[in-house]
Amino acid sequence: MRIGILNSGGDCPGLNAVIHGVVGAATELGWEVIGFRDGFEGLLPNGPGHVKLDPERTIGILKLGGTILGTTNKGNFAVKIGVDNVAQVAADIMEQAKATIKYLGIEALIVVGGDGSLTTGLQLCQEGVPVVGVPKTIDNDLQATAMTFGFDSAVAAVVDALDRLHTTADSHQRVMVVEVMGRHAGWIALYGGIGGGADIVLLPEIKFTMENVAAHVKRLYAAGHRSVLIVVAEGAEMEGGGLMTREQMDAEKRQVKLGGIGEYVAKSVEKMTGHETRDVRLGHLQRGGSPTPLDRILGTRFGVKAVHLIKEQKYGRMVSYQSYHVGDVPIEEAVNKLRLVQPTSEVV
Ligand code: F6P
Repeated sequence: MRIGILNSGGDCPGLNAVIHGVVGAATELGWEVIGFRDGFEGLLPNGPGHVKLDPERTIGILKLGGTILGTTNKGNFAVKIGVDNVAQVAADIMEQAKATIKYLGIEALIVVGGDGSLTTGLQLCQEGVPVVGVPKTIDNDLQATAMTFGFDSAVAAVVDALDRLHTTADSHQRVMVVEVMGRHAGWIALYGGIGGGADIVLLPEIKFTMENVAAHVKRLYAAGHRSVLIVVAEGAEMEGGGLMTREQMDAEKRQVKLGGIGEYVAKSVEKMTGHETRDVRLGHLQRGGSPTPLDRILGTRFGVKAVHLIKEQKYGRMVSYQSYHVGDVPIEEAVNKLRLVQPTSEVV
């Protein structure tokens, strides 16, 4: 049997562990694995192409960040996602992809991706390509799986940054604002903030006011804090009442006068409290580098499970992690609706 694998969307620590797991499990079954370069683009005749993956080629990749196959969150297969508006990949592009799969004799395709990529994988599956999905997002906001690999590594990067920033903030009695990833979901901010001992965490799921943030900063200093650590998710939004409206903030951003919400919060806190403030945008430091042990193990388990799903011909299904068990769910259950932090949910 000959199977294919591609990863698509933003990269994420643990992708190579998935590839390693897939190749290991497939080799045991005597199967061949073809890896498509740069996501779905590798399926196009004039695209970046493919590579044969065997144990020799994948030796030592388990611990490497990024992906040896390359990936993209742009290009011919990028779909607009949203509950009511799921755009499909153009028919001619799909035809070209299917022709490549047929020509190469690929009998099943593993798609490692987030919401958009799994939606494209599902479209391919509905058009007759046997597809299984592996969930991937450092934001940890995919439905139908309790965890995705990459999230733990991102949280570890945030916690490491907070530990470092804490000591310098304490020395100077400063407020330190740290902007982390998470456009729609605040999981990285929440877990990173709790793990790193942040004093204030601002999430996309709960609108905030600058007045509340400034008042809490003042309270903390009055209570004897030498510094205050604020974690803000990139997608966090204000209820209003800040020094700048959202429109003004967006206008400043367009003129490159303002980096992001973190910088805005920092400037506002300094103005409103008089405490010296600095801001740091962690950006892609959260996505790069080696995966944590947990992500290596989770990625490996996901890869092995994907091969087993093919063996059982369970197509249209996605590998899913629930209560320490790696199982599977229909891909439909995972896409078109993000898993957000519930303001009332307990953190366990
Ligand atoms: O979706 C994951 C994510 O890490 C977001 O949190 C972030 O906004 C985005 O990717 C950035 O991706 P890129 O810079 O690759 O477009």
